[in-house]
Amino acid sequence: MICMRVQQIFFKNTLRNFCYIIIFDDGAIYCIDPFNAQEVKAFLGDKTTLTGIINTHDHWDHYQGNGVLVQTYNCPVFAHIKAAIPGMTKGLLDGEVIYKNNEWSLESLYTPGHTLSHICLMLKKNGTPHAIFTGDCFFNAGVGNCHNGGDPEILFATIHNIFSTFPDELLVYPGHDYLKRNLEFTMEIESTNTDAKSFLNKIENLDLNETFFINDMLIERKINTFLRLQNPVIHQKLNLNSGTDKEIFIRLRELRNKW
Ligand SMILES: [Fe+2]
Repeated sequence: MICMRVQQIFFKNTLRNFCYIIIFDDGAIYCIDPFNAQEVKAFLGDKTTLTGIINTHDHWDHYQGNGVLVQTYNCPVFAHIKAAIPGMTKGLLDGEVIYKNNEWSLESLYTPGHTLSHICLMLKKNGTPHAIFTGDCFFNAGVGNCHNGGDPEILFATIHNIFSTFPDELLVYPGHDYLKRNLEFTMEIESTNTDAKSFLNKIENLDLNETFFINDMLIERKINTFLRLQNPVIHQKLNLNSGTDKEIFIRLRELRNKW
C-alpha cells in the first residue's frame, strides 16, 4: 500500500491563497499553485526532490512561486496547454494522468469558466475520485469569479455538467479561503438555510487565519448556493420563478460580484 498525504499551506495574504503539497510515500511530491516559494521550501525542508509543480490556471497568485521552485528543484511545470504560464514545460489536456502508482493517480480535469484554460486536479484512489484540487473554479460555499479571462456561462456548464456529478464523499481543496464570506452570501440568498447558518455559528469565534475546513461534496451541496439552483427560496429571492438553472446561476454570480 502506498500512502498519500495532502499538506495545505495558507499564505495569510489578502487574497487568502492556499497551495497544496501532495506527498506519496514512494517519494513523489507535487506542489499545486505555489503562491510563495519560500513557504513551500520551508515545508519541504531537507527534501531534495520536488517531482512537479502544477498550476490550475494562469493567474499570477497561482504561479508566482514557480520560478524559485524550478531553480531549486529543477522540476517540470504542468498546466493546461493553453495557459500562459512562464516556464511551463508540460501542457495538459483534459483527463491526462500526471502521476500514477498501483493505488493512487493524479489527473487533470478541464474546468473552464474562471479562465478558459483552467484545470482542476483529481486525485483518485483505486480509480475512484478521492479529492479534487479546484483552483479558482470552485470554493467552499461558492464558485470563482469570471473577471479576468473567464465566462459565467462556461463556468455554469462546468459546475452543472462536472461538479454536480461528483460523489458526496469527494474532498474539496480550493485555491482560496473565502468560506466565511461565501457562507454569508448563501444566507443572504437563502435565509432559511440552516446548514449554512450552523456552519457560520461554528466558525464565528475561530481564528480563520489558523483554522480551515476540508469539506466534502455532501457538505457543499448543503451550503453552496451555486449547487442549489432548484431551491424555490433562491428563485423567490431572485424573482426568477421560471428561470432556468443557467439563468439563476448567472444571476447569482452577478450578485456575488457586487456583494
Ligand atoms: Fe484566479
